[in-house]
Parts: sequence; structure tokens; C-alpha cells
Amino acid sequence: MKVGIIGSGGREHAICQSIKKSAKVDTIFCFPGNAGTKEIAKNIQIDLKNFKILKDFILDNRIDLIIVGPEKPLVDGIVDYLEKFKIKVFGPNKIASQLEGSKIFTKKLCEKFNIPTAKFGIFKNRDNAKKFIKNTNFPVVIKADNLASGKGVYISNNKIEAYGAIDEIFDGKFGKANKLLVEEFLVGEEMSFFTIHDGKIFKNFGTAQDHKRVLEGDKGKNTGGMGAYSPSRLINDELEKKIINKIIQPTLNGLSDLGCQYKGFLYAGLMIVDNEPYLIEYNVRMGDPECQTILPKLNSDLSDIILACCEERLKETKINWLNKKSLCIVLCSNGYPDNYKKNIEIEKLKNLELGNNEFLFHAGTSDKKGKIYAVGGRVLNFVTIEDDFKFARDKIIKKLKILNWSDGFYRNDIGYKVIKL
Ligand code: AMP
Ligand code: GLY
Repeated sequence: MKVGIIGSGGREHAICQSIKKSAKVDTIFCFPGNAGTKEIAKNIQIDLKNFKILKDFILDNRIDLIIVGPEKPLVDGIVDYLEKFKIKVFGPNKIASQLEGSKIFTKKLCEKFNIPTAKFGIFKNRDNAKKFIKNTNFPVVIKADNLASGKGVYISNNKIEAYGAIDEIFDGKFGKANKLLVEEFLVGEEMSFFTIHDGKIFKNFGTAQDHKRVLEGDKGKNTGGMGAYSPSRLINDELEKKIINKIIQPTLNGLSDLGCQYKGFLYAGLMIVDNEPYLIEYNVRMGDPECQTILPKLNSDLSDIILACCEERLKETKINWLNKKSLCIVLCSNGYPDNYKKNIEIEKLKNLELGNNEFLFHAGTSDKKGKIYAVGGRVLNFVTIEDDFKFARDKIIKKLKILNWSDGFYRNDIGYKVIKL
């Protein structure tokens, strides 16, 4: 089987490595991939905004299955487009992708189907939003409606901050804005909950806790994710039932009312308050770095599972997991999430040896004449699976010290809530 993977991050390298293990897969193409995927797949440089060129490549090369990693092509309708040409593609269609593409779409669905979420208001102009803010409690959460690579969310502690957020959003910082969302601030602990869907049924696909802030102690600016661990310390049977019955199933019912079946990964970003789940946001894909954290524990053939989803056969497909703890630390370029230098060599990377149950997934890397260069903010993901989170973290930090890349940094405290010192 020939498989194509769309995307270039750590998530896509992890998917690529997992698919590579299958005896049924002979060739993998990555669009465009990174220096890590280049070792095990064919990286193809294609303008992903041009669906026609991509479709022609897929048909010319007889690729049997396409897996879409990031949200942007999904929200732009890549699945609908490729399916018109009878291409098997794993990911939700354009209507379903609004779960991530429009926060207001999701909030309205929550309202209609009684899905627990933070109380909210939708505002169509800055005056009304500011009038509302005058009489609200702080902190308050202000969100741009559209995709903003995790940056369109403001947690404002006072009126001045809130007004600044409203102005930035309506001034178009995240693209043209006709509306914004003001939300009640929920106090609890976050959890990422994953499911995999074939349009008819779904199965659980693990839990994780992500560390989004750049500094240790979960301080500083929001990033794409500095590290994660799996499983989340919050998950238990009762909570899992509540998440499925109160959040996931009603969402699928809501989509079904719109004539839409969900196929792909679904990532529910939840706030857990006293063992009760509240939906913060949906993502219509795997998380990054949660994907890198979860996939090494998968003890089944990922290509079988994904193909089964594209053929509505998930019910008969087993998904087995290693009963292990997994932890991921992300190595970033100095300066991230603000400005950072590009094209810096990671000198010792080629000599780094990985032991059993140790994984290295590339993100923002590029390969030139046999040397590896950092070209993005998040550069490498180090993952270890062990019986114990502390042991896993210690092993990773040892590797990072050997690599000793002075142009990068990482958080030493990933998983601090599950690691007692
Ligand atoms: P989002 O992009 O919607 O996931 O928001 C980014 C981050 O902002 C989340 O991971 C939370 O840490 C925080 N956040 C978003 N909405 C809320 C809320 N209503 N209450 C508390 N924190 C929130
Ligand atoms: N780890 C957060 C995300 O993938 O959106």
C-alpha cells in the first residue's frame, strides 16, 4: 500500500514512523515532511493550497490512502475535494471541520445540544463587546472566531486588557473578523481527550496533558505545546463516560443533524472541574505534541486502523495499547514563541543514539547535504515510554544534555503534576 501524509510537524513524523512499521505499507509520501520523515519517506514539495496539483500527484502515483495531519487543509475542504476523485482520505470534511475552524459554530452546537462548556456571548462589533466587558467579572476569556494557530485566545485580567484584545481581533490580527466570543473563565485542570471515527462509530484514542506555556511552572506565553504526557492523570472510568455521553456523542448528533458524519481524529480540549468535563475547544486532528506522545504506545497497525476508518470498518478493527506511561519534551529554537533564528545546524544530532522505547520526532528541521538544520520554532520532540513518568523524563533529559544544542531550549518540568520529586 502507498500512503501519503500531509503536514510537516512532529505529529506528522510520528504518524509516518507508526505507518512505516506496517508490513502492508511499501511507500510513504510526505507533503512536504521534514528532515525526519525524509529518512523513511519521500518528501514532496507541493503547494498545499493548490488542491489540484496535490490531487494530480496522488492519482499519478496511485497513492492508496491520504492522512491529513494539520487543521488548515481540513478547514479549507481538502477531504471534500479529494473524495470527489475517489481518493481515500482520512480526516473530517469541511462542514465537520468547523468544529475547529469556527469557535462560534462549536459554541452554538454546545448551546443547542446542552454540551457543558463555559458560558459565552457572541459580539458583532467592538462597542457591544466593550459594553458587556464593563459589567463582567475578571478574568474573562476573549477569542477570535477563526483559526489562529492557538494565538487568538486572550485571558484578560482587567478592562484595559480586555479592550486591547477586542481591538486587536476586530482590527484583523487573526484575519477578517465579523464577530468575537467572550467566555467565562473556567477554573480547573486541562486534559486532551482523543477519539478516532469512521463516520459510523468511534473508539477512544488516548488522553494526554499538554504544557502550552513556554516557561517552567506553566508560565509565560502560549505556544503550540512544549511537551506532554500520557495518560492524563485526570482520566477515570466515570469521567470517560461523562465525556462521551455529555460531549462527544451529542456533538456527533449535532453534526448528523447537519447531514454530516465525522471521519478522522477528534481532539476535545477539556477543562475538568471536580471530575466534570467542560468543552474548551475542539480540534479536528491529533494534537501536537500529544500525537508524538500517544502513538509510541499504539500496539496495533496504524495503517490498518486508518484504512478501516476510510472504509467504515472501524467496528471490526482492534486498537491495542501498551500499558505504559509516555512523556514528550519539545526542543525549541531560542526566542520561540517570538522571533527566532532559522537555518541553525543541530551539530550532534546525527550521532545521537536512541535506546529501546526512546523516540525522536522531527518538527521544524530541514536536511541539507547530510546536515540537519533547525528551520522552525519547535524543532525536535523527544519521547520515552516507561512504567514511570519520572524515569521517562530523566531519560529524555539525559539525551537532551548529550545533544547539548546551545541554540535551543526546553522545559525541564514537563509532567510535574505526575512526577513527585
Ligand atoms: P483554545 O485555543 O480555545 O484551546 O484556548 C487556549 C487556551 O486558553 C486553553 O488551552 C486554555 O488554557 C485557555 N482557555 C480557553 N478558554 C478558556 C476558558 N473558558 N476558561 C479558562 N481557560 C481557557
Ligand atoms: N497541543 C495543542 C494542539 O495541538 O493544538
